[in-house]
Amino acid sequence: MQRRKTLTQYLIEQQRENNTIPADLRLLIEVVARACKAISYHVSKGALGGVLGSAGSENVQGEVQKKLDVISNEILLEANEWGGNLAAMASEELEEIHPIPSTYPKGEYLLLFDPLDGSSNIDVNVSIGTIFSVLRSPDGADTTAQSFLQPGSKQVAAGYAIYGPQTVLVLTTGNGVNCFTLDREMGSWVLTQPDMRIPEDTAEYAINASNARHWYPPVTRYIDELVAGKDGPRQKNFNMRWIAAMVTDVHRILCRGGIFMYPADKRDPSKPGKLRLMYEANPMAFLVEQAGGKATNGTERILDIQPQQIHERVAVFLGSKNEVERVTGYHADSNAG
Ligand code: F6P
Ligand code: MN
Repeated sequence: MQRRKTLTQYLIEQQRENNTIPADLRLLIEVVARACKAISYHVSKGALGGVLGSAGSENVQGEVQKKLDVISNEILLEANEWGGNLAAMASEELEEIHPIPSTYPKGEYLLLFDPLDGSSNIDVNVSIGTIFSVLRSPDGADTTAQSFLQPGSKQVAAGYAIYGPQTVLVLTTGNGVNCFTLDREMGSWVLTQPDMRIPEDTAEYAINASNARHWYPPVTRYIDELVAGKDGPRQKNFNMRWIAAMVTDVHRILCRGGIFMYPADKRDPSKPGKLRLMYEANPMAFLVEQAGGKATNGTERILDIQPQQIHERVAVFLGSKNEVERVTGYHADSNAG
């Protein structure tokens, strides 16, 4: 019988043999993974668990919270509060940071998460997921919101779970990207796709094309060329996919390549894109780069951006290296006039 590696075994190997992660980071990741198992359980119950529908509240972004947004947020907060390895947490669903209560021991890490990405998919039984990012706190016991404002290149771990036909956990600690599938009978995460790599070239792209009339010229130029296919300057046909959950669109790209875009557009200059830098774009950019891909905001590497606020938004172009370089180049051409 073929024995596959579990997440626990993988993490212990990283700690002991490869020396790429310290023990406290390993334990923190185990706690996040355990919380994702609990979220997966609630998501899978759907209407039977009474978890579908709206919670009747709004989050800090002005988005209507679904019951499962709230449940997932609570599961992550509760599981990680007593783990002993965190100084504080930040969540898409919370306006302020969540310091570890004084009743629990504190650690040196900061955890950021989008508890349930792709909320519009919840009630229609389409894949959704949890995205997380781990930073080290530079301020120990005096951790404040300011302590979180570090560029994505400082992340020590990042990943996501997808609650779809299978529940998977995709993780990087800065030493490649690995995908684990949840074995529900065993209760363990099993390594099923080691060392995920994104091909440099692709014929698949993801963008919400209903926003086309609002795009800036470099995005319009790039998409027009893709749509023109074999008859246009690219001389090849491209296919489009849009799941409307970043986590699942990025997972497809990690599995078979592609480019994902959520550009800034002309609608509201105060909103540079829709996605949040610190708990959506940064963890995904870390994973994508670790798998050989690229991630920019059109002009700058996402991981180099110095955040000003925990909930700030950013334009995102990520995935197969040659396509991200091309669309980033079109922004440079446009800026150069
Ligand atoms: O978290 C925001 C998000 O739900 C992403 O997961 C997804 O890629 C995007 O918004 C979908 O946006 P739209 O509603 O424009 O399709
Ligand atoms: Mn999200």
